[in-house]
Amino acid sequence: MNAPQRIAASFNVEKARADFEILSRTVYGKPLVYLDSGASAQKPRVVLDTMRDFAQSEYANVHRGVHFLSAAATDRYEAARRTVQKFLHAAHEEEIIFTKGGTEAINLVSYSYLAPLTQPGDEIVLSVMEHHSNIVPWHFLRERAGAVLKWVDVGDDGSLDIEALDAAITKKTKLVAVTHMSNVLGTVTPLKEIVARAHAKGVPVLADGCQGAVHEIVDVQALDVDFYAVTGHKLYGPTGIGTLYAKRAHLKTMRPFNGGGEMIREVMKDRISYADAPARFEAGTPPIIETVGLATALDYLSGFDRAAVAAHEHDLLTYAREQVRQFNWLRVIGDAPGKGAILSFEADGMHAHDLATILDREGVAVRAGHHCAQVLMERFGVASTSRASFALYNTRADVDALVAGLAKARGILA
Ligand code: ALA
Repeated sequence: MNAPQRIAASFNVEKARADFEILSRTVYGKPLVYLDSGASAQKPRVVLDTMRDFAQSEYANVHRGVHFLSAAATDRYEAARRTVQKFLHAAHEEEIIFTKGGTEAINLVSYSYLAPLTQPGDEIVLSVMEHHSNIVPWHFLRERAGAVLKWVDVGDDGSLDIEALDAAITKKTKLVAVTHMSNVLGTVTPLKEIVARAHAKGVPVLADGCQGAVHEIVDVQALDVDFYAVTGHKLYGPTGIGTLYAKRAHLKTMRPFNGGGEMIREVMKDRISYADAPARFEAGTPPIIETVGLATALDYLSGFDRAAVAAHEHDLLTYAREQVRQFNWLRVIGDAPGKGAILSFEADGMHAHDLATILDREGVAVRAGHHCAQVLMERFGVASTSRASFALYNTRADVDALVAGLAKARGILA
């Protein structure tokens, strides 16, 4: 048996699909074909069951009570932190900070790490394919502290130009903030190389891993990345929970973010001192049930042969790419080598929203719009695209349904 067959054989998509009850429902009388996991992935039964069971039998507030349930819930909450630590291969538990999502994780770095260091004229290097969540927090620093945003272009195929990125890093650069995987193009950036180039000039790197952590095996120590942001709901977990990985060395210099309970050591009328990380950055009652759900989702994903899942998703992407080649009225945007399982496209004479609406009536869920990436839309000279994003539970039959829906839409709209 050759290698690709051996990989494919170790992932059973039908068995995985059975874990996701929602995939057996119909919409408008058609079987659901869910191709919008890049926006939010469906959740397996084990995540939903675990969250309900935890709420029914072990739930209380964490870190606050001496009673049985509070101790039990605290154990689960802290165990979840260790699960994330393991998933990202972080060296230390306290390097994992729970946030309400990827957006909050990046805002935390902007506010707590970079804002106090920023002087007018300091530079932040970004790629043009960033999601708004990895752009707007840096615009805040431009507006409020005089930071300069420096943009690194991508090639026509959506590849990041590493030499351009290197050239953009100067003595004034305070941070490089790049996606690990573009939510529009599917481009996977050479993160290890980016970090090596930035560190050679003494500049830290933040990676937006909201898509990357889903499709790539992440090892923050091997990458040597300084900050890595993930969100739970794209990782087959619940909404309202995400994580910032931050290197221990940075945590010491980061000022508190939200103020409130649990992030302090002592609060008096005229003085205050703060808890160490991670509590310092987790003010207030956290999303406890969701944190347990996130850990369950990561265990679920880690239970698969991740390389086999990646091969499966890659097969879907390749198949979809081949199938849509027959449509000379459709332009795929993003064709970088090694890209992840996201297919964005625009169609002649069809607005992305109209196209998505027709696909929806066929039971096919795709996202249409600017995908919170307007800088990238400008780069490619489009206002919007349609986007099919694949997850471990998708099949070639899903791609066939997409292709049939596209042909139908062409008949109606063009
Ligand atoms: N960031 C999510 C997406 O790309 C919402 O759809």
